[in-house]
Amino acid sequence: MSVIAVYSPKGGVGKSTLAVDLAWRCAVPGGRRTLLWDLDVQGGASYLMGLDEDERPRALAAFQRDTPPGQLATPTRFDRLGVIGADASLRTLPLHLARIGRRKRLARLTEELQRDFERIIIDAPAGQNEVTEQIIAGADVLIVPLPPSPLSARALDLLRADLTRHHRRHPPILPVLSMYDSRRKAHREARAGAMAAYPVIPYSSAIEQSAVQRAPVGTFARHAEGAHALDRLWRAIEVKLGELEARG
Ligand SMILES: Nc1ncnc2c1ncn2[C@@H]1O[C@H](COP(=O)(O)OP(=O)(O)OP(=O)(O)O)[C@@H](O)[C@H]1O
Ligand SMILES: [Mg+2]
Repeated sequence: MSVIAVYSPKGGVGKSTLAVDLAWRCAVPGGRRTLLWDLDVQGGASYLMGLDEDERPRALAAFQRDTPPGQLATPTRFDRLGVIGADASLRTLPLHLARIGRRKRLARLTEELQRDFERIIIDAPAGQNEVTEQIIAGADVLIVPLPPSPLSARALDLLRADLTRHHRRHPPILPVLSMYDSRRKAHREARAGAMAAYPVIPYSSAIEQSAVQRAPVGTFARHAEGAHALDRLWRAIEVKLGELEARG
């Protein structure tokens, strides 16, 4: 079982869009039992999956009681893809985790979930708090979407420094150049520098449509350039996970 967290301290960089599409790829073309876990109170991934707001806020329950987390996951319309949606109850999660003082609560939950799932994709909130710390501590790989800008390169440096300082062991970071527009000089320049080696997700109207269709990109725009880029990214992540597994 592998935990893939899509995380950036910055908001609006394409985390939820990426998380939803990657989860669908793991489950449908990838054929693995996959869980998409939305841990952002804003519920971006839940919205993109077409989930309606749950009248009974219970996203926090996984962290509160001894509810087996497997029971919190609900099936989706896609084979092998389950979801734990976000709701307003997550608002108090940082406080709750800080109060119960269990540093590895989230990692313990994902361990329990491996009975039911081979891949867990976490859509993390932006910012830095107890929730994101636990997501980082519990992930096998961190996907960090970066819009092409010198500010993103700086944000990545700061993130690396922060992880080294605060985590004895932290997962490998896979930076992804997101929303790349080759017509823009600043984007081309950013890519020519430190970001040259990173996988690229183009700025694409097909990807943007994910929020309109409320569906993973791969389900409605299979042949769009953006979908091919997402497919390549998913394959690169699988290769990375394979290497990590081989290393033990
Ligand atoms: N590659 C892309 N091309 C065009 N539009 C995109 C792309 N990726 C994401 N978007 C759009 O950009 C907006 C922000 O994307 P998304 O919600 O996935 O970001 P986020 O990092 O999860 O944001 P937040 O921090 O608010 O949760 C959305 O409207 C989404 O449809
Ligand atoms: Mg989001």
